[in-house]
Amino acid sequence: MLGRLRLPNRFTIPGLTTNYATPDGFVTDALCAYLAARARGGFGLIVTENLGVHPSGRVMPRMVMIDDDRYVPGLARLASAVTREGGIVIGQLSHAGRQTKSRITGFPLVAPSAIPCPINRETPRALAVDEIRELEQAFVSAAVRLAAAGFDGVEIHGAHGYLVGAFLSRYSNRRDDAFGGSLDNRLRFLLDIVDGIQRALGRDFPLIVRLSAREFVPDGLDLPEAIEIARRLRDRGVHALSVSVGVYESFNKLSMVSGEPEGQWLPLAAAIRSATGLPTIGVGRVKRARVAEEALAGGQIDRDGEESRILWCFGCNVCLGRTARPETICPVNPAVGREATFAPVPAARPVRLAIRGTSVSALTAAWVAARRGHAVTIHELGPVLGGLQGLRARVPGQEEIAETIEALVGRATEAGVKIVRAEPRPGEHDVLWMIRRPAPARGNGGTAAERTVTSYDVLASPGDFAGAGRAVVLGDDLASTEAALLLAEAGVGVELRSPARDIAVDAHPGFRDVARRGLGRRGATIVTGANDEPTGAPVPEPALLVAGGDPRFPDGDLGRSEAPELSLKVDDYLGDAYEPGRLTATVYEAVARAAALDGPARATPER
Ligand SMILES: Cc1cc2nc3c(=O)[nH]c(=O)nc-3n(C[C@H](O)[C@H](O)[C@H](O)COP(=O)(O)O)c2cc1C
Ligand code: SF4
Repeated sequence: MLGRLRLPNRFTIPGLTTNYATPDGFVTDALCAYLAARARGGFGLIVTENLGVHPSGRVMPRMVMIDDDRYVPGLARLASAVTREGGIVIGQLSHAGRQTKSRITGFPLVAPSAIPCPINRETPRALAVDEIRELEQAFVSAAVRLAAAGFDGVEIHGAHGYLVGAFLSRYSNRRDDAFGGSLDNRLRFLLDIVDGIQRALGRDFPLIVRLSAREFVPDGLDLPEAIEIARRLRDRGVHALSVSVGVYESFNKLSMVSGEPEGQWLPLAAAIRSATGLPTIGVGRVKRARVAEEALAGGQIDRDGEESRILWCFGCNVCLGRTARPETICPVNPAVGREATFAPVPAARPVRLAIRGTSVSALTAAWVAARRGHAVTIHELGPVLGGLQGLRARVPGQEEIAETIEALVGRATEAGVKIVRAEPRPGEHDVLWMIRRPAPARGNGGTAAERTVTSYDVLASPGDFAGAGRAVVLGDDLASTEAALLLAEAGVGVELRSPARDIAVDAHPGFRDVARRGLGRRGATIVTGANDEPTGAPVPEPALLVAGGDPRFPDGDLGRSEAPELSLKVDDYLGDAYEPGRLTATVYEAVARAAALDGPARATPER
C-alpha cells in the first residue's frame, strides 16, 4: 500500500533523469512512451524523473518543469500514458540547489549556505529567509499541479545533495538561523513543504520522501540521523520513503557501475523500514528479482516472465553520464527514449546479410535487420561472442557482461539470426558487413622493439601470460587497466603505468574506483603520469611488457587487418569498442545501418 493506494506489485522505477523534455521544459511524446513502456514491462510504481519546481533549480538543459500551469496538460499526458498501462505514477519534485550550473538555470545558484560544488565548480549564494519561503511554496504549488494533472502522488526529492537534501545535511547547511544547526532546524524546509502539500491536497494524498541515508562526505548524513529524519517524516504523515545514498561529491556511490556489489544499499533501506514501519523503496544495483526477493524478506514480488528473457543492464553508467549530453542512451537497449518509433519497418527488398565477427553492435544490428525481414547470419570463428565486450566479461568483477551478451544472442537468434562458426563464402550472401575494432591505446614508455603484447592479447588469452612472473602494463585506458587486472588476478606481479594523471581515463570514474581497488587487492602497483622507463625496483626476468599500441595493426583496425585473406567484397563495417561510451556510439550507428538496409531497387519492367 502507498497511503490510500494499492500497488499492483512492489517493483518500482526510481526517478531517472532522461533529458527527453523540450528545452523549455515541456513533456514530449518520447518521455510518455519511455515511461509507458516501463509500466507495460511490469513496474507497478513509476516515479518520474526530477521535475523542476523553480527555474533556479533546473538541473538539466531539457528538464521537465512544473513551475507554471502551462506545463499541466503535458504532465497530464504523461500521467495517463503510465496509468493506461496499469502503473501508479508519482511525480518527483526537485530543486537542484548548489548542484547545477548557472549556465543551465539562467540564475545565480542558491543553496542553504554558500558552499561550492566541486563537481560543477560554482559557488551558490545562501538563500534569504523570504526566498526559502518562496521555494517552499514552489514545491507546494508544483504538487497541486501534479494532482491536477492526474498523478497518483508526489515524491519530494530530498536525496543526492539537491536543495532539500542540502538543508538536511550538516555538510551543506551551515546556517545559524531557524533553518540550520539542530536537526529540527535543518528539517524545517522539508517539513514545511510536507505540511504545505498536506494542507493543499489532504493528508491522504500519497506522499513519498526520498533521502540519502549516507552521503559519504564529512559531516554528511549517515544512517542514525537518516533514521531520525525518517521517523519524523512518518510522524508527520508521509506514506513511504525512498532510500538512496550520496551527493554529487560521492556520485560513484549514488549510481554504481559493474564490479560493485549488487544490492549494497539495501541494508540501509531495511534499517529505515524497520525503524519506521513505512513502505520503503531501496536501490543500488538491484538487478535481479532474486536480490530483491532476498531483501524483501518474506515479501511477495509479482514477477512477469522468466529472467532469461531480460536484457540485462551491465552497469556501465552511460545512461547517467549522458543524461545531459545529449540525453539518456544505453548500449544494451538503444530503443530507450525511442520506444514509439523503434518498431521495425519491414524491408522493401529483403537481403541475405552476412556479418563477420560479433560485437554488441553486431548482435543488435543483426536483431534489427532480422526483425525487418532480412536473412541474417553472423560468422564468428573466435571463442567468444560479443567482440571486445566478450573479452571484457572475463575481467574480475565484469562477469555480468556475459549475461548481457547471452541475452543479446538469445534475442537475435529468436528473431531468426543464425550464428555459425565458419567464414562467409561467395554466393551465400548479398551484403557483407565486418567488425572494425579500434586499436588498443598506445601506451608510452615502450619502443616497438620492446613491445611484447597488446592489452587485447592479454584480454583475449589471459591464461597464456599467467607464467610471466612480472609484467609492466603501459596505457591510460580502460582496456590496459583491466588487462593489468587480469594479469594480477592470474598471479603476475603487475606495474600499471599510465601516462595520464589517472588510470582508465576514457571510462566512467566508477570504473577507476573499481579497478584501483581490484589492482590494490591483488598487489599491483599503479604509477600515473608515467613518462619514462618503469621506476622502482628493476623488473626481473621474465618480464612481460603490455603496451597499448600494436605495430601489427597500424591502421587502427583489427577487424580489417585480421582477414586479409578474405577476398570478399566488404560492403560496410560495424564498430566495436571496449569502453562503454564508445561502445554505445557503435551500437547506435549499427542500429541506424540495419534500419536503413534494403536490397537494390529492381528496374521497373518495361511495358
Ligand atoms: C540516468 C540516471 C538518472 C537519474 N536521475 C535521477 C533523478 O532524476 N532523481 C533521482 O532521485 N535519482 C536519479 N538517479 C538515481 C537513481 O534513481 C538510483 O538511485 C540510482 O541509479 C541507484 O540505483 P540503481 O543502482 O538501482 O540504479 C538517476 C540515476 C541514473 C542512472
Ligand atoms: S546498460 Fe549502461 S546505459 Fe544501459 S541502463 Fe545499464 S548502466 Fe545504464
